[in-house]
Amino acid sequence: MGFKDQIDLSRLPEHIAIIMDGNGRWAKGKGKLRVFGHRNGVVSVRDVVEGAGEIGVKYVTLYTFSSENWSRPRLEVSAIMELMISTIHKEINNFMKNNVRLNAIGELNMLPEKCYRELTSAMERTSQNTGLVLTLALSYSSRREIVSAVKNIASKVLSGELNIDQINEETIENNLYTSAMPDPELMIRTSGEYRISNYLLWQIAYAELYFTAKLWPDFRREDFFEAIVDFQKRERRFGMTSEQLN
Ligand code: FPP
Repeated sequence: MGFKDQIDLSRLPEHIAIIMDGNGRWAKGKGKLRVFGHRNGVVSVRDVVEGAGEIGVKYVTLYTFSSENWSRPRLEVSAIMELMISTIHKEINNFMKNNVRLNAIGELNMLPEKCYRELTSAMERTSQNTGLVLTLALSYSSRREIVSAVKNIASKVLSGELNIDQINEETIENNLYTSAMPDPELMIRTSGEYRISNYLLWQIAYAELYFTAKLWPDFRREDFFEAIVDFQKRERRFGMTSEQLN
């Protein structure tokens, strides 16, 4: 029996966040350039997105490019940006066919003009789709996202629109890039690294973490389903006792 058949569809995690790691090592292991790993990483993205749509996961958020990634060699950065442009361009018809809504979080104004235009036009075109919401974290840093939320809130306090005593968790949430989404319930990281790396720090407060040694270009929908099966075996207590849950 495959992992897909073991999934209880009535208890799917609504939002799954993924740290796609290991493209560089995968390529190196094959004696190829890092870019070759990223290109094959796109194959995994397509497969996982299809798998998510197949079972009805509502939100998938991919750590595609971090703010820290800008410090990589210039050629690698431009190759990733080119890859993004061509992938979005190629996938747009599939998104329309599969009812996928493309979304992005991060400092999008840092993206090269062409990449920004391709992205925002695909977001616009898919904005009425009602199936899977596929969010790309691009030029994303969770700490910077929190800083920007704090600035927004502070300016509302300064202008008198908001009173300090009214600030609560919801105020912060409403000022994050993810305000329109539920928090991830499951976070997957590939390539055997056990880190969060500045990804959705506020949002993953109660997420289950799943780590796999597989490198991202080897990760397929079956691995994604396996992570969901693992998630469903866990007891999520949110600070309560087992007895309270039963
Ligand atoms: C991490 O592996 C991967 C990235 C930083 C880039 C991920 C980008 C893609 C898969 C392209 C996606 C495109 C779309 C449209 C979603 P790494 O380079 O850090 O690998 P390493 O840890 O082995 O060096």
